[in-house]
Amino acid sequence: VALIGVTVSPLFIMRLVALDNIEAQLRTRRLNELSNYTLILSNQIVRSNYFKGENTDIIHADMSQSASMYNGRILVIDSQYTIVKDTYATLNGMTSISQETIKAMSGENIRRYNKEEKMLEMAVPITNEDKSEILGVILFYSSTSDIQKTCDLIGQSYNGITAALICLCVVLSLLIANLFTKPLKRVATSIDRMSEGHFDEEIHLRGFSELKVISDSFNTMLKKLQKLENSRQEFVSNVSHELKTPITSIKVLADSLNMQEDVPNDVYKEFMQDIVVEIDRENEIINDLLSLVKMDKAVAELNIATVNINEMLEMILKRLRPIAAKRNIELVFESFRQVSAECDEVKINLAFTNLVENGIKYNTAGGWVKVSLDADHKYFYVKVADSGIGIPEEYQDQIFERFYRVDKARSRETGGTGLGLAITRNVILMHDGAVKVLSKEDEGSTFVVRIPLKHVPENQNGGVNDEKN
Ligand SMILES: Nc1ncnc2c1ncn2[C@@H]1O[C@H](COP(=O)(O)OP(=O)(O)OP(=O)(O)O)[C@@H](O)[C@H]1O
Ligand SMILES: [Mg+2]
Repeated sequence: VALIGVTVSPLFIMRLVALDNIEAQLRTRRLNELSNYTLILSNQIVRSNYFKGENTDIIHADMSQSASMYNGRILVIDSQYTIVKDTYATLNGMTSISQETIKAMSGENIRRYNKEEKMLEMAVPITNEDKSEILGVILFYSSTSDIQKTCDLIGQSYNGITAALICLCVVLSLLIANLFTKPLKRVATSIDRMSEGHFDEEIHLRGFSELKVISDSFNTMLKKLQKLENSRQEFVSNVSHELKTPITSIKVLADSLNMQEDVPNDVYKEFMQDIVVEIDRENEIINDLLSLVKMDKAVAELNIATVNINEMLEMILKRLRPIAAKRNIELVFESFRQVSAECDEVKINLAFTNLVENGIKYNTAGGWVKVSLDADHKYFYVKVADSGIGIPEEYQDQIFERFYRVDKARSRETGGTGLGLAITRNVILMHDGAVKVLSKEDEGSTFVVRIPLKHVPENQNGGVNDEKN
């Protein structure tokens, strides 16, 4: 609408101004022509002794021709106010005492436009050659209806152009609006489809680069959502599977006790112990899950304090030493310097405990686990190395996933939920750190952890990272 207004309003103004101008100019030009003609006519009248009755036919013919040419009427009046010639022939021989006649007879030149009658009116005195005497008057009336007509015609074509321009504007604005809204509508449709749960439909917008940016970021978001949805489904199926396994065992154990009659007391006890083991396992899985869910929920819920990392690692090793001793595994701590860092002690403790536990669990009898600590001005580094069974290269990416275990059979023997490393990685990421694994099958594994010494709250993180990049 604005576009139409902007285009059309100057047209209207131009129309008004221009048409008035054209009309005025045409009138002035006509008036000049009439002036010239009356001058010529008055000269002719004087030279040809017209008032003495000579050459009247020639002059009358000329007058008639000019009158019809200018769409008007010419009257010649002599000094006695008698109308000698009227090209309309109605007033011949009569006396004219009109205002113009009287004024012209006293030497005045009258040229004016009568707006009501739409007439150009002219009254010119006829003087003798030395201009000493007024011999009569020429009156010339010329209708401007033809000028009016011309202007109306111009106005009409103007109207046509204006109408055409309005149409063009309407069509153009519709086209442009469509051009802009169509891709946006498609984005909206795709988003709607997505909220209905279709995560598999990308959008491809062509044309404006801005729209391309939108569609690209939409697709990126879609990919992330797809990944999230996949891992959610996988997680749910894993959880239900893992939670079901101990329950199934418990049911099998309980059923077999129920089906037998007169079960000996020691068999009862043995089965009950197995049931307790399964219950413990179920409990362990639930606890791990809960701690993972908690971490997912609130990154902000970190309980940050300055922690002496040396002390913390030594405590972890001290706690695990009895378990390691059972399989004759040596736990070694090596510190290159004293390190204090801002972190959540409980969570970081859990993360490193999981790593050392794995080092013990996936080790061979008589092996070792070595924990070393170092730091620079920005980060501290913890390495947990073991002499254990190692992790085949192809699984190294996946061990951090929830419930992932390399050797299911052996893992079941050693116990565990497959959540340990997932929890560890979560904790480290919450602290803006990183973890990687270096391992060779049958030779051992080394987990390298890097964590910032100073904790930067989440909302300021972006800025710091941007600066870094
Ligand atoms: N130090 C290690 N050496 C060899 N394999 C390892 C080591 N650490 C982890 N793994 C492999 O990665 C898998 C995942 O480890 P993770 O700690 O997540 O689960 P888990 O130890 O099986 O169970 P838990 O939840 O009790 O820790 C393990 O099952 C094991 O196959
Ligand atoms: Mg583990």
